[in-house]
Amino acid sequence: MKRVLSGIQPSGNLHLGNYFGAIRQFLDLQADHRCFFFIASYHALTTQRDPAQLRAHILDVTASYLALGLDPERSVLFDQSDLPEHHELAWYLSCLAPMGLLERAHSYKDKISRGLAASHGLFSYPVLMAADILMYDADLVPVGRDQKQHVEIARDLAIRMNNEWGDDLIKVPEPYILEDVAVIPGVDGEKMSKSYGNTIEIFEESKPLKKRVMGIVTDSTPVEDPKDPERCTVFALYKLFASDAERAEMEQRYRAGGMGYGDAKKALLAKIEEMFGPLRERKRELLSRPDDLEDVLAQGAARAREHAFPLLERVRTAVGFSALNRGIPG
Ligand code: ADP
Ligand code: TRP
Repeated sequence: MKRVLSGIQPSGNLHLGNYFGAIRQFLDLQADHRCFFFIASYHALTTQRDPAQLRAHILDVTASYLALGLDPERSVLFDQSDLPEHHELAWYLSCLAPMGLLERAHSYKDKISRGLAASHGLFSYPVLMAADILMYDADLVPVGRDQKQHVEIARDLAIRMNNEWGDDLIKVPEPYILEDVAVIPGVDGEKMSKSYGNTIEIFEESKPLKKRVMGIVTDSTPVEDPKDPERCTVFALYKLFASDAERAEMEQRYRAGGMGYGDAKKALLAKIEEMFGPLRERKRELLSRPDDLEDVLAQGAARAREHAFPLLERVRTAVGFSALNRGIPG
């Protein structure tokens, strides 16, 4: 059975880009794969500085995962900050990672150009991400296109590790990216992202949700004129929710003219409400029992460790160290 691993940073509320670009694939894959899904808390520390808020975001992503249907019995669901083991593996990978490889990472350059401080954590982030992936012998890594280069770096580092310390020491992973949903647009037509302030949040309440959807930027084609659905953000979002027949009908209404963007937005809003409206209450309910969420994470951490620990032993032995740190009872 193939192994799947992915994570999301607890750096803000989850949005439609996260859902269609990543989480929906998590839900599909969990039915018949061995899955590991985690909250990338160490990664979030590259940008988050408020401890109370970080704590809240960690529980929020946990509740969101559960409300959307991740099943902690079927999948291993854990908080990365419960597994400092990831840093040990990251160190071995760091020692093999060429500076040039990391210097080419787009995401680092983008973040710096948007004004984030150029910290070592931000720079070495792809190495930690590689450790997250390689730690669980993942075959497939479901992510949106913005993360493709990071998964390629993880592949590169896995190959280097095998060359250096023994064939088959570590599994070489593949990105799992569905082309149709690789880049979901935000309300301004650019890639939807927390850091661009252009998101539609999955669990947004009705009133602000309506405001957000009605505020999607469109061109100024008059109501009566035909419109090109392929160049419209509202349609790009609507088709994520629609059946084939609904999508064909909407496409036809665009091309026929006589429909304003306002009507298309209302149809989109109805779809979002239908799909996610009922889940708001479920998430609220989950968040009202933080101790239960902590239990889910504690069990997930124990199960994750069952995989992480033997893998680290394997790697430690391969590099020339003792399998266990001397002094730790076995
Ligand atoms: P953000 O850009 O909002 O900070 P994250 O980096 O936390 O989002 O992304 C978590 C997951 O969701 C990743 O797999 C990422 O590729 C995916 N994702 C985020 N935004 C989009 C988008 N607009 N389209 C497709 N996938 C996305
Ligand atoms: N870098 C990813 C993001 O920002 C989050 C992440 C961290 C991740 N480690 C991972 C995703 C391992 C997949 C696999 O969205």
